[in-house]
Formats: sequence, structure tokens, C-alpha cells
Amino acid sequence: MCGIVGYIGTDHAKEKIIDGLKRLEYRGYDSAGIALPINGSIEIRKAVGEIKNLESKISEAEFDSSVGIGHTRWATHGKPTEANAHPHGNMEQNIAIVHNGIIENYQEIREWLATEYGIKFKSETDSEVIAHLIGLYYDGDLLAAVNKAVAEMKGAYAVAAIAAEEPDKIVAVRKDAPLVAGIGKGFNFIASDIPAVLKYVQDVYLIENNETVVLTKDNIVIYDENGNTVKRDVYPVEWKADAADKADYDHFMLKEIHEQPKVIRETLMNRLNEDGSIRLDDISMTKEDIENFNKIYIVACGTAYHAGLVGKMVIERMAKIPVEIDVASEFRYRDTFIDDNTLFIAISQSGETLDTLEALRDAKSRGARILSVVNAVGSSIARESDDVFYTLAGPEIAVASTKAYTTQLICMYLIGLYMGSTRGTMDKEYYDRVLDELKALPGKVEKILYSEEKIKDMAKRYHFNDHVFFIGRGLDSGVSYEGSLKLKEISYIHSFAIAAGELKHGTIALMDSETLVVALATQDILYDKMVSNIEEIRARDAHVIGLAKEGRTEVEKVSNEAIYIPECIDEVAPVLAVIPLQIFAYYVALERGCSIDKPKNLAKSVTVE
Ligand code: M6R
Repeated sequence: MCGIVGYIGTDHAKEKIIDGLKRLEYRGYDSAGIALPINGSIEIRKAVGEIKNLESKISEAEFDSSVGIGHTRWATHGKPTEANAHPHGNMEQNIAIVHNGIIENYQEIREWLATEYGIKFKSETDSEVIAHLIGLYYDGDLLAAVNKAVAEMKGAYAVAAIAAEEPDKIVAVRKDAPLVAGIGKGFNFIASDIPAVLKYVQDVYLIENNETVVLTKDNIVIYDENGNTVKRDVYPVEWKADAADKADYDHFMLKEIHEQPKVIRETLMNRLNEDGSIRLDDISMTKEDIENFNKIYIVACGTAYHAGLVGKMVIERMAKIPVEIDVASEFRYRDTFIDDNTLFIAISQSGETLDTLEALRDAKSRGARILSVVNAVGSSIARESDDVFYTLAGPEIAVASTKAYTTQLICMYLIGLYMGSTRGTMDKEYYDRVLDELKALPGKVEKILYSEEKIKDMAKRYHFNDHVFFIGRGLDSGVSYEGSLKLKEISYIHSFAIAAGELKHGTIALMDSETLVVALATQDILYDKMVSNIEEIRARDAHVIGLAKEGRTEVEKVSNEAIYIPECIDEVAPVLAVIPLQIFAYYVALERGCSIDKPKNLAKSVTVE
């Protein structure tokens, strides 16, 4: 949930690191720091809050080196204070480390280091023990000391370390937390995420679990856990450098909302052959496997879970297999019925969400076949899956997920279509119709984006509301959850999603003239029932924004306001219906002066349970 950047070369390391940290701020942003080896010692600077606070502390000319490591933090152990910020040093101040992940046995190590060696700790973090352990084992060979330290550590980590006596290298190690080495000419980078280095390198090595990597300015050497050198293929990053820039947009979230026509098209077309069949050359699942599946579990968190809510209904409709959906943190602790004929679908933008990863591991150990829908190439979830459906959303920087969600939906349709056609549960006519509708989505999303001003005006009228409800039926109910999450996470308005039919069983008690309800009525088959639900709400004086397909004007008559999406079949409406909700959340948050790309208390990738 934090971000790591290290640079070694001939340039000013602090500038490169600050630039990389700014690109990683979405990973965590409550404090940040930099460590540089200077004149035989390690100099560390830290600041609470955003990276710009750190920048003002490192401006003096003496704080300079061509090697260094930096970190942006999302607090897990200890409050976001300067003492708890990374990098952490040892007592002699000749070692510094940055760490992502959690050291599970840190208390034990801490006590041992304090009792046996009199080590005094400056922070409340689990990470500080790593610096002291490396310091304890250090005798002039940083690689050896890191290896010895790692042998004592339990948990998940990506660590980068520097030593004052060896200013010509950075040593890094990975276990269950992402780590990449960026390959430059006369310089190299280490980072937790590709966007940090995208401006400077186009090729990276993806570091695997239990590997250690030594970077000098001209070399990158990877070692396995037995100390053997590993030959790793270069991974060419296809993302363009500007993919991780805001361009002319005020926020990454707005930019990412506007990228949706493009990324939806790319995610779809990447999987389609000219004859309309689905291209699965990289998927090992056979026809027989698909015919034999008797059950599917979809497991994910947050927005990815909401994509799964739609995925469940789509796959059940197309492939006629029972699909259960669960949030990952619940799935692991209930009775599930998994066997060799179970398909487990994990959905994750980052591919690093620990709850989802652990649920996947649990399902795998019990015989399930694992298919993941992931955005980050080479991430842990992707690597531990039998097959991966990549969403080609490009880097998603805003904490609030938008384009990842719509591309996840596209994957759900493709999986539904493929399974349905393989199992013979959908006829050719329906298959072709759905496919045509999917292909038309990018143009229709563009059309909705043209109505941005109208939704912006609506946000100006409704940003005062303290309570907002999102309701819908069928596929709309899944989208309601996503609309509600978008609004609450960036505007801090209390919002709540509920299946529209369930409203009258209790929640309608909350409706009065102070309440705003966003009512989704895009499903033709449930349209009349939604109109009745809206009338029930209006009878309690609540304000309603109705959302329906063009031409369904009844909604406008019963609501205070209406938003229309282009005509489409019910199945694909979620991709269109969510766009106005994303725009609404964005402009409400803007009106309320919120920190849109970096909402309080949140981090982009949640690598703790
Ligand atoms: O990287 P993942 O898709 O696994 O992340 C899951 C959730 O943490 C994520 O979707 C979160 O809910 C976002 N903040 C939603 O906008």
C-alpha cells in the first residue's frame, strides 16, 4: 500500500526519486522520505503528508547523491508521523531501508534486538526491525546482510536497502509484495510499481518472490533464494510514459473517466477474432474443463467486487452455471464447497490485494481452477492464477477506480460469452447480438461523456446532501453499489446502496425531504417496477435522480431529474449506467473541495488483511 523508488546512476538521485514518489503517491500518501549515502554516512529526510512537504526539506545542495531510496507511506503500524515514515536507519546510521508489506514477527525480533543488542527503536513500525537486522549482520557486504536479515523475517515484503560503505549499489528483496527493476543505460531503478519509472525506462525486470536483486549503475543481477543468479527475460512495458501523467486534466480520476471509450475498446478487441469468436490463445482452460464446471465463485474487494456482482448475473444468464460472489475477506472464513470442477474467478485491478490473493490461494489449495481478471501485468494474483484475462485499462492512478471497473465488466461479458457458447447454452443469434452491443459501447460511452456539463450542474445542486441512496434492480442493483462507493470514497458523503425492491422492508423509513436517491432504471424487464419504487420514494418527499435509457420518459415524470444513457440491451447497460455516476461523484467531490485522487484514509492497493 506504500510506494518504493530507488535510483542509482550519475544524476541527482533525489530528483529522480521525488518524481517517482509523486507518481506513486496514489499508493499511500500520509508521509514520505528519502535516504542518500553522503560522505560515508546515510542521510535521511522525512516529512508528514504529501510529497511536496518532503520536497521542501531536501532542497539544500549538500543533500545530494547519485544513489538513493525513497518511500511514500500508508500507515499500518503506527500513526503517520515523521518518526514512523520511511526510510528507517540502524543505530550507526550506516544502513537505510524502505519497506512495503508487513513483518508479522516484528515484535519478536524487536524484543530480541533490544534485549540482546541494546538496540533502541525510533519508530512504532514493523519495518524498522529490518534496518537493525541488516545493520547487525553487516560486515561490508550488503547483499549478504540482507539475505541473513530476510532469513529472520516472516510476512510480506518488498525491501530496498543501501549502505554508507557501499554507495555503488542498492540491494532489494521481494516476498509477496510487488517489485520491479527498471533497466536504464548508465542508470537503473528499483520500484514497487511500474508507473514510478515509466518516464525513464521502457524495459523492466519483474522480480519474483524470494528473489534478491543487486543494482549498480550499469548492472542488475537477480539471485534466487539459494543465491544462484537468475536469468530473467526483459519485460517491455507497453504503457506509454504519458499514461501515468494527468495530461490537461485537473485530476487523474477525470482523465481516467475520459479514457474509458479507448480502454473498453482495447480490452474487447484484444480478445476478438475477425469472425467474432473469442481469442484465448493464452488461456489454458479447455472445452472439456468448461463443460465440467459445476460452480463458479467470483471473489474480489471494493469496486472489483462490484464488477463481480454484474459478472455473476451475466455468466449465469449466458453460461447457465451457478455463480456465487463474495468479498474476499469473507470468502476465506466461511464454508465453501470447492472441488476440481469449481472455477474461481478473482478480480483485481492491482493484482496485489491481499484479501483476494489469500482467497485465491485457499481456493487453489482445495482444487479450484483459478482464472483472474487483473490489470497489473505480472502482479501476484496474475502469477498465481492458472489463467489471466487482462483488463487493458493502463495504469489507474486515482484511488477511486473507474476505468478498471468498466474493463472488468468487459471481461465478465467475454467470459460469459465464451462459456455460454462453449457449453451450448446460448444460441448464435443471442451471441452475435451481445457482441454487437459490446462493440458499440465505446461510442455510447463517448456520447455520455458529452453530457458531462449537465451532470456537473446536477452535482452543484446536490452536493449539500448528507445522505444519498442508490437503488436499482437486477443488473442495476450491482451498479448502484459502485455508484454509492464512488460517491462516498471521494466526497465523504454518507451513501448507501440497496436493491430497490428491498427498500420498503425497512430503509424507506429514512426517506424524507432531506434525502437524495439515485434510482437506476435501465433494465427494461424491471422498468415498471422501478417507476413504482420511485413513486414510493417521491411520496415521502425525497429527491430522486432517475437514470434510464433514452426514450424511457416515464422516469423523468416521476423523478426530480433524469439522466439518460443511449439505447442498448439490458445486459450491457451497466457499462453505460456507471459513467454518469462516476462523473456525478467526481463533481460532487470537487464542489466539496475534497482531495479527489487521494481521498483520506484510503490507498490504491490494499496489501494488508
Ligand atoms: O486492486 P483491487 O481491484 O483488488 O482493489 C480492490 C479495492 O481495494 C478497490 O476497488 C477499492 O475499493 C477502490 N478504492 C474503489 O474505488
